[in-house]
Amino acid sequence: MTELPAWWRDAVIYQVYIRSFADGDGDGVGDIAGLRSRLSYLDDLGVDAIWINPWYRSPMVDAGYDVADYRDIDPLFGTLAEAEELLREAHQHGIRVIVDLVPNHCSDAHPWFRAALAAGPGSAERERFWFRPGRGEHGELPPTDWMSRFGGPAWTRVTEPDGTPGEWYLHLFAPQQPDFNWDNPEVRAEFEDILRFWLDRGVDGFRIDVAHGLAKDATLPDLGYVDDVFGRPSRSNHPHWDRDEVHEVYRAWRTVTDAYDGHRAFVAEAWVAGPEQLVRYLHPGRLHTAFNFDFLACPWRADDLRKVIDTTLDWHATVGAPPTWVLSNHDVVRHVTRYGREATGHEDARRQYGVPVDLELGTRRARAAALLMLALPGGAYVYQGEELGLPEVEDIPEHLLQDPTWERTGHTVRGRDGCRVPLPWSGQQPPFGFGADTAAPWLPQPEEWRTRTVEAQRGDRASMLEFYRAALRIRRELPALGEGDLAWDDDVPDGVLSFTREPGFRCVVNLSARPVPLPEQRVVLLSSATTQDNTLPPDAAAWLLS
Ligand code: NOJ
Repeated sequence: MTELPAWWRDAVIYQVYIRSFADGDGDGVGDIAGLRSRLSYLDDLGVDAIWINPWYRSPMVDAGYDVADYRDIDPLFGTLAEAEELLREAHQHGIRVIVDLVPNHCSDAHPWFRAALAAGPGSAERERFWFRPGRGEHGELPPTDWMSRFGGPAWTRVTEPDGTPGEWYLHLFAPQQPDFNWDNPEVRAEFEDILRFWLDRGVDGFRIDVAHGLAKDATLPDLGYVDDVFGRPSRSNHPHWDRDEVHEVYRAWRTVTDAYDGHRAFVAEAWVAGPEQLVRYLHPGRLHTAFNFDFLACPWRADDLRKVIDTTLDWHATVGAPPTWVLSNHDVVRHVTRYGREATGHEDARRQYGVPVDLELGTRRARAAALLMLALPGGAYVYQGEELGLPEVEDIPEHLLQDPTWERTGHTVRGRDGCRVPLPWSGQQPPFGFGADTAAPWLPQPEEWRTRTVEAQRGDRASMLEFYRAALRIRRELPALGEGDLAWDDDVPDGVLSFTREPGFRCVVNLSARPVPLPEQRVVLLSSATTQDNTLPPDAAAWLLS
């Protein structure tokens, strides 16, 4: 029997942020029933796989990234039996399924953490986490100066079983998300078993949450300064980001997935310093793929994008791993909004609440960016709603904000809710077919989304939805697209990116302020409505064939 090609090398993977995708049981929160009812939409869109954000039992302090039971589904989303049905049905549609694994931390409601609290200092139960005495005369100061990603110290003090103030435990995220101690063999064994649990149920892969965070320097040194946002390590030998020891974990995991048939694959969420550090996760025998956040973070500028593309391709080639291309996800400002402002980089976007945004410009660029992303060698991620051209919702009333960042920063950083608003499917007013008319969606949808519903866009050739469908269909048809190489066309005006992929494909992106002539080739897809006398307008892209 011939071995099938590894699907993950050039798959288009659609991110299902499950609580905002579709609500099947009418409680205002998306769920497995809703997702099952919309599988034909995803099939019709033309994606190869879906990645589902955490659906496990959880108190939902961080939207499910605080897991209390890794082997069961939270009742908010459905049941384990429904998850198994979903896997079966997705596979019938030819759609693979990646689940989200959260190994850096669990929930404070996880039985292991509860047992650790009950067992007290020095116990084997506490060894599965990072418990330490505090500093200061009475242990009243945290053991290190590390900060939580959601604001405040990364340590919380516990009350011991005898009622006295006691040790502190580490949480790089919310206090309800205690970090596991990956030096502990029980933690390692537990996660290998969790991998097998889901592999046995037929999942095609895992997205690894905070993949760069598992290993800590056990001497727990101070950092000496406040770290960068989003956990990019600010120096080498960082005490808790991107440490060498983390790769041992992934070597072991790879032997687990390799024992299964059907090309089960990992994708790492690793906010590391750059591509050189990223591909260390992708050495042979480690992980298959990793999100390429440099592309997402890059400003809308031709030179910067070309540099990111080149360094990505060069570094991935050194380890024989395919790159991935990502524009948005549930943690970052949606790219229609990012690209609609003057400062277009991801880091800029985080600080621009209240700054005027030109959504028409952002949408034009988003269309061009989609053609660029889908033409590059490797795989690509589509975050739910980007195919509808959804912008960031920046005016969610403060009392409705759910992201723990809002509370943890003393109401100074609004957090990530603006990119997590439930999808508009149909109709003229909220909830736009997301769920039952009687239940308000867990975050409010803007009234203006009536023009952006799936129903409003389907069949409209000018819509973002039909544009994505066309791009995904053509990407499947053209042998030049997917894995492989590209060659830059250097004879182009400043501000223009143009590359060729064999056989006979060319992608041209105009990031300059002027229209540029298009090569005399057949246009197969344009991001803008017209070509204006065979020129490509600013902020537009074209796919061409010779
Ligand atoms: C990264 C996830 O994408 C984010 O949503 C979550 O808050 C943190 N990891 C903590 O698990």
